[in-house]
Amino acid sequence: MTDAAHKIDALREKIRHHEHLYYVLDAPTISDAEYDDLVRQLQSLEAEHPDLVTPDSPTQRVGGKPKEGFAKVAHSRPMLSLDNVMSEEELRDWDRRVRQLAGPDADIGYVCEYKMDGISMALQYRPGANGSSHLARGLTRGDGATGEDVTTNVRTIRSIPLSVSAAHLKKAGVPSNFEVRGEVVMPLAAFRKANEEREAQGLAPAANPRNYAAGTIRTLEPNIVAQRRLDFYAYFLLTERGEDLLPEQAEALDALTTLGFRVNPHREAMPTIDKVLAFVERAGEQRETLGYEIDGVVVKVNSTQVQQRLGYTGRAPRWAVAFKFTARGGVTQVEDIKVQVGRTGKLTPVAVLTPVSIGGTTVSRATLHNADEIERLGLKIGDYVKVERGGDVIPKVVEVVVDKEHPRGHRTFHFPARCPECHSEIVRTEGEADYRCVNIDCPARLRESLLHFASRGVMNIEGLGEAVVAELLEHKLVRSLADLYALTDADLAQLQHEVVTTDKKTGQQKTRTQALVGPKERNDLLAEIESSKSAGLARVLFGLGIRFVGERTAQLLAEEFGSMDALMAASAEDLERVNEVGPRVSQAIREFFDESRNRDLVRKLDKAGLVMTAEKRKRTSQLEGLTFVLTGTLPNLSRDEAKAKIEAAGGRVSGSVSKKTNYVVAGEDAGSKLDKARELGVKVIDEAGLEDLFR
Ligand code: IVH
Repeated sequence: MTDAAHKIDALREKIRHHEHLYYVLDAPTISDAEYDDLVRQLQSLEAEHPDLVTPDSPTQRVGGKPKEGFAKVAHSRPMLSLDNVMSEEELRDWDRRVRQLAGPDADIGYVCEYKMDGISMALQYRPGANGSSHLARGLTRGDGATGEDVTTNVRTIRSIPLSVSAAHLKKAGVPSNFEVRGEVVMPLAAFRKANEEREAQGLAPAANPRNYAAGTIRTLEPNIVAQRRLDFYAYFLLTERGEDLLPEQAEALDALTTLGFRVNPHREAMPTIDKVLAFVERAGEQRETLGYEIDGVVVKVNSTQVQQRLGYTGRAPRWAVAFKFTARGGVTQVEDIKVQVGRTGKLTPVAVLTPVSIGGTTVSRATLHNADEIERLGLKIGDYVKVERGGDVIPKVVEVVVDKEHPRGHRTFHFPARCPECHSEIVRTEGEADYRCVNIDCPARLRESLLHFASRGVMNIEGLGEAVVAELLEHKLVRSLADLYALTDADLAQLQHEVVTTDKKTGQQKTRTQALVGPKERNDLLAEIESSKSAGLARVLFGLGIRFVGERTAQLLAEEFGSMDALMAASAEDLERVNEVGPRVSQAIREFFDESRNRDLVRKLDKAGLVMTAEKRKRTSQLEGLTFVLTGTLPNLSRDEAKAKIEAAGGRVSGSVSKKTNYVVAGEDAGSKLDKARELGVKVIDEAGLEDLFR
């Protein structure tokens, strides 16, 4: 091995080690910056030695798109589902059947695991270099017999090892050909963030983390999958032919952790069904506190020998069962439908419900999204509906319930013809589901804008909640976001609220108005407002409430342009250079800044002393450290376009070929540079080859 190869190998091992600590064990021992630095070192070494780049390198998680959808591939052994039990009695029945079928001499013990609510996945590992093993394939369950090859997408999931070293294989007692099965889940934090983004982009939020994970894993854009932060929990360890690799399920789970997979720590070997029931009960209590969704507990017979003896019924094993939790839903009556105005003027119908307790919280409102949704549900006021809280705080109406106890409602809901707050005209753009209030001065819009601006994750102004904002508007102390920064203690002292007091002697009730914010809280609030000035460009951009500009887009824009001035001066074309910004988003940004009152607002915020700059992102993209030489006529790109593209991705374009050149991009009628490249053994690619590098 050369020096460089050694260095690269050592760096990769180090990076894998830290990724395992971070993504699997949630226990990093170095800072993000130190980690980034290691990755950068590896990237630049790999750029110098492109021949040493291997698919299992930590730099290669996001690769090319699958060209023609996903290929269908047969499973090593069918991926089955589980039979469900819903009660203690049913579980005890199952236990009795297991014992009976296994025979009197069988030693029955169970392993309890959480039933994670995601999608199942089979990962095939095959022999790699130096006795290691590498991820060769990821298959969805499909119809059970054949799955879809989604390898490009599962590779982007950071808790899935791209390779397992010979040492780890040895320690776990596992050959270099093996298969892991488990669940791909979307953690709740990632789900909520994704939905906030969707909302900011005017898209309907995804219904639940499982649907979102399922949709994501079948996306044809690996870089989108990489951003969605999916996770993987392993629960089966099999041979390449799909047979059990170890004699016990509990051992298999431990071996999986040794191999570097994430295995749910909530797992336990249980000798009796009583102990299993206690585990189920505890899981039900913990359900609300986990960072991901579970919908039950899976109980498996521990011994794989006994498993084989028990065998299968048509579609499910006899040796395992799912104790399913009841869905977190409830049935209640729709008392009314109200329409709320959001900060972009969007009108959202909301069902006002007879309060009902769902999974420990009282629910009295549920979103109906838009007029189409009400029509789809066939909902009338007075109807009884099923409400679910799926992995999210916002409850959703799933269906209208009609039976003997739940008669139909009678009042048809009509979408208002005018804005419920300012009575201006409302419009519905062709092709869009939402109605919007057209009045930019609609008090509801200003109220919602202020609340958004002040909220956590945006400008973080604690103490600026609904009551304070309502009073600020009532007293006309704030007419735009910028006015927040001119507020004084005397202004805040004017804010009032009504309190009801009872006279101790007479028992009479009296209503008194009183200061809404006391002297100390006023002080704190002003300090909060002051410190929000340094939140930085990304937060201000997000806070402005530009359509389609959510937290992530704001961050990317801030890193790309570095200042509000540069961003405001950017053309639609400039804006679209930012990853994830397409014509729709760029147009919304342009429209926002073309409006003089918005430019005015930005000027005032600037004058108030808000930080309107951000650190520009260093261009450490795909082509970082690579040198290109262009020669001949390319079929689609002009010389300048090709150069701009390479440079935008961090590469360098040089005029002459030398040993240091990494690639010569050759088109038609390429001349002496091509000969020189061949002479020096420099890699020659065509335009398509160049495009491949950007993927
Ligand atoms: S065992 C044949 N273990 O639940 C054995 N499944 O209907 C089936 N699931 O398709 C899988 N957590 O997607 C097993 N700890 C766990 C699980 C689990 C979630 C899912 C899996 C499966 C479905 C069962």
